[in-house]
Amino acid sequence: MIGSQEHAQFIHLWAQQAMDTGDFHWNYARRGISHPSNLPKGWVYTGGGSDRSAFVGPDGVVYKVCFDPLDNAQSAAEIDRFNALNGEWPEGIRPAEMDIFYVYDPDADRIGDRAAVVAAEWVEDDLDVDREVKARYWISKIWQICNNSTNDFYISDLHTENFKVVNGEVVIIDLGV
Ligand SMILES: Nc1ncnc2c1ncn2[C@@H]1O[C@H](COP(=O)(O)OP(=O)(O)O)[C@@H](O)[C@H]1O
Ligand SMILES: [Mg+2]
Repeated sequence: MIGSQEHAQFIHLWAQQAMDTGDFHWNYARRGISHPSNLPKGWVYTGGGSDRSAFVGPDGVVYKVCFDPLDNAQSAAEIDRFNALNGEWPEGIRPAEMDIFYVYDPDADRIGDRAAVVAAEWVEDDLDVDREVKARYWISKIWQICNNSTNDFYISDLHTENFKVVNGEVVIIDLGV
C-alpha cells in the first residue's frame, strides 16, 4: 500500500475548491498546463493529463485527483489493471507502485458515490532536455514489448506523458484506458 486516505481526501477537496476559486485551471484540450497557484504548504504540482492532475504530498507520494469527481471509472480501472498484472511485467518495464482511495466529495455524495484518488510512487525520469525526442525511441520500444499479440500488457494510451524512464527502465505511470 502506498499513500494515505488523509492526504488523498485533503488534496481532492483542495483541487475541487481551487477550480471554483480560479487557483486551479483545468485545460481539458491541452494536457499539462493546469498549473495551480496558492498550493497548500508541503504540496507540489507535478503534471496533468486530460482526466487527472498529479500532486506530490508532504509524504513524497503522488496523488492523482480526477477533474470530474463523479467519474471515478478511469482510476478504478487503472488500479484493477495494476493489481491484475502486478509483478508479471516484461523485463525492463514496470508500472509505478499505486493504490486507490475513495474520498468524500460533496457532488459525488449527492448521488451516493465517492470520488477516487490514485496514490502512486513519485517517478522522475532521466530523459532530461531532449525528452520529447528520446521518448519517441522509448515509445517504439514499449510498443514492441507490450503491444504485441498477447495483449496482457497492452498500453492503450501510449504517449510521452504516460511513462518515465529511470536508469534504462520504463516505468508506466498511467495505466488508464
Ligand atoms: N507516479 C507519477 N510520478 C510523476 N508524475 C506523475 C505520476 N503520475 C502522474 N504524473 C504526472 O501527472 C500527469 C497526469 O497523470 P495521468 O495518470 O497520466 O492522468 P490522465 O489519466 O489524466 O492522463 C502525468 O502525465 C504526469 O505528468
Ligand atoms: Mg496520462
